[in-house]
Amino acid sequence: MPVSDVADLALAPSGRRRIEWADRDMRVLAAIRERFAVERPLEGIRIAASLHVTAETANLMRTLRAGGADVVLVASNPLSTQDDVAAALVADHAVTVLALRGEDTATYYGHINAAIDHAPHITMDDGADVIGVMHGERREMLAGVIGGTEETTTGVIRLRALERSGGLAFPVVSVNDADTKHMFDNRYGTGQSTVDGLLRATNMLVAGKRAVVGGYGWCGRGVASRLRGMGAAVVVTEVDPLKALEAVMDGFEVMPFAAAARVGDLFVTATGDVNVVRGEHIAVMKDGAIIANAGHFNVEIDLPALAELAVSVREVRPSVEEYRMADGRAVFLLAQGRLVNLSVAEGHPAAVMDMSFANQALVVEHIVRQRGHLDVRVHRVPREIDREIARLKLSTLGIGIDVLTEEQRDYLASWDQGT
Ligand code: ADE
Repeated sequence: MPVSDVADLALAPSGRRRIEWADRDMRVLAAIRERFAVERPLEGIRIAASLHVTAETANLMRTLRAGGADVVLVASNPLSTQDDVAAALVADHAVTVLALRGEDTATYYGHINAAIDHAPHITMDDGADVIGVMHGERREMLAGVIGGTEETTTGVIRLRALERSGGLAFPVVSVNDADTKHMFDNRYGTGQSTVDGLLRATNMLVAGKRAVVGGYGWCGRGVASRLRGMGAAVVVTEVDPLKALEAVMDGFEVMPFAAAARVGDLFVTATGDVNVVRGEHIAVMKDGAIIANAGHFNVEIDLPALAELAVSVREVRPSVEEYRMADGRAVFLLAQGRLVNLSVAEGHPAAVMDMSFANQALVVEHIVRQRGHLDVRVHRVPREIDREIARLKLSTLGIGIDVLTEEQRDYLASWDQGT
């Protein structure tokens, strides 16, 4: 059993208050937790979770513990850990946590390996790092796994690549594909928390700026819409013609990144792919341009190219580095190119993480119940779970909706009724 590695257990009281505050907006998860405490569906199940260690994640961990699971939690990003929350999880909730805000790469992977030492029945990833290491260096641990879950788009892309290569060793459920996840967490969560990160880092005025959003998936849509809401003129860049068309019809200007690089004041990447902002783009950016990343990994901005173009680098505010070019221009990089919403702000608000983590909890229960019956592939979240979460969320918000009349149901089931 791995031993906790957190910054300072004395921070637990502050973490406890944050967890309580988040819990107020996580009523769906609380309802699941109450049921889990009675039914104990995860009794004896060992879980290795690699997630952003936040107050919202803490409430998921409490839910898994209430269900009887034995959980080890490690970070899914070196910069997103809330050290006080990590301390409270260890002190109050008997969760083994190995996560330190700002941990270096060796420590980060040391912690991932420690989570694998836990011999998990279930893996829970946000970015596929546990599964990636298990399918690489730690293959001896694969046999004991019943199944895994994946939280984010980037992780699902990696898992589908693993599945296509024929190498996936156990069934995995893509929590990201649930409607109650990506339509809310990716869009409203990333949208709001990315703007929050930009503002906390820079205190910039968004109104009147030209903001360039790289990618118009669910995250990019959210970021573009929230920046527009604050008065920015938003340019979208895309590689997918359908998404580009959607951005046009949503009222955004669409152009290739090379053209956008010349006109933008602010750049936010949300593509999930590498080197979206490259040297040739940075070379033509305006003096004072700000570059940030909202994607999972710090690969969307070509950091080596940025460093190579600069004659000097200095930190001008916490999480803001000024790269000075030979021609005198300055370009500002936020949070070292790591995801700005979790590195500088606090990630998505609890009210959306409620649905994402309700999916996680119910999907783990589903995998345990279906033990031995799920094919080895990447699965979608069962439709009933998705709908149940939407129903519960509406009910916790006190919102009622209509039900079909019998006549309406019959009409929808018929093929011969017209005008
Ligand atoms: N991913 C995005 N926001 C998050 C949060 N608040 N907690 C955990 N994971 C997240």
